[in-house]
Amino acid sequence: MVFAALLLTNCSSISKTSETKPSSNLKDAFKDDFLIGTAVNVDQIKEANPQLAQLEIAHFNAVTPENIMKAEVLQPEKGRYNFEMADQLVDLAKRRNMVVNAHALIWHSQLPRFVRQMKEADSVKKFFNDHITTVASRYKDKVYSWDVVNEALNEDGTMRKSIFLDKMGEGFVVEAFKLAQAVSPKTKLYYNDYNIEQPKKRAGAIRLIKQIQAAGVRIDGVGIQGHWNVNNIPFKDIEESILEFSALGVDVMFTELDVSVLPNPFDSNTADVGARAEYNAKMNPYAASLPDSVQKKLADGYESLVKLFVKHKDKIGRITLWGVSDADSWLNDWPVRGRTNYPLLFDRELKPKAAFHQLINIKNNVSSNQGTNHVQLK
Ligand code: G3I
Repeated sequence: MVFAALLLTNCSSISKTSETKPSSNLKDAFKDDFLIGTAVNVDQIKEANPQLAQLEIAHFNAVTPENIMKAEVLQPEKGRYNFEMADQLVDLAKRRNMVVNAHALIWHSQLPRFVRQMKEADSVKKFFNDHITTVASRYKDKVYSWDVVNEALNEDGTMRKSIFLDKMGEGFVVEAFKLAQAVSPKTKLYYNDYNIEQPKKRAGAIRLIKQIQAAGVRIDGVGIQGHWNVNNIPFKDIEESILEFSALGVDVMFTELDVSVLPNPFDSNTADVGARAEYNAKMNPYAASLPDSVQKKLADGYESLVKLFVKHKDKIGRITLWGVSDADSWLNDWPVRGRTNYPLLFDRELKPKAAFHQLINIKNNVSSNQGTNHVQLK
């Protein structure tokens, strides 16, 4: 109780008062390891909920806009840009001393209608050039990094069907990095995707990174999104990916971390926003509350993951949670609408969950992870 109250009042002073006392906020606890980020939505940027804002200030030193820097928001009509929310986010981050990871310049999803309707290759190329140049140059000294290209790959490592692949060929990825580098020379440039810890898709990402490098273009990092299920966190693949990506000379980041506790309606793990399944009660087993056993399993999963990240902290730049509280997670409505999921570190009342405490305890050398369902770390 006292611990929770302290968290909500003045966490940053705790770590400053004593060097030996362990930190009880995330960004300070892991300050020697990596940045700790969160995704924010429009209400969070407007600081609509002061208690939530306090949590963000206390625990995170990096921020990713969940939606407001996607193309359909920034350029809703051809040539008409709307930077209002993105500018507010940049101001908010500056006030809070957080770095912004801007998300995302080129993505097949959430494109403006006028782009989705394009038929001519020249029109697509013009949008591509104009959008990257205008947006990346506006934020060149204001954001720390860009997800330059998001989700360009299929599960088997081949290029995913998109208007950019269709009209510009596979070279659009290199081209996007080249354009971003030209107008924003100091910003870190990343490739971001889900499931790229999986061997075949990972091989595709390695191929793309090598293509960018072979063209003499800069790529600073790769973002493994990290949308996983508590029953199936791929620890071995994650560790292999950290090693293989960093061997290419790029930073590794976990950029959209959340761990679903709900049944997966599909045969395989995906974070494809287009994947949808029908609601039925069996798909929503914890509508009233989360059983202690599942809460513990979730906490153990997070603990094992973050221990693995700490083990490779020299290769990892940032860990970003895809939201703060379970109430705001996209996983309540995806891939099945209207479920009650529990994938993050703070509950619907904004109280820290067992997973949060176990992460903090990693730095206090207290292991709570007695679970046998997680692989031993190498
Ligand atoms: O803005 C409209 C609003 O006007 C309307 O009233 C409302 C009605 O449904 O929809 C609002 O748009 C929603 C938007 O989020 C903003 O809240 C969309 O329906 C909804 O589909 C959209 O979902 C986002 C999703 O990307 C869409 O692509 C999620 O919030 C966001 O978490 C998710 O983020 C992606 C990453 O960018 C890339 N990796 C996967 C990740 C999770 O899907």
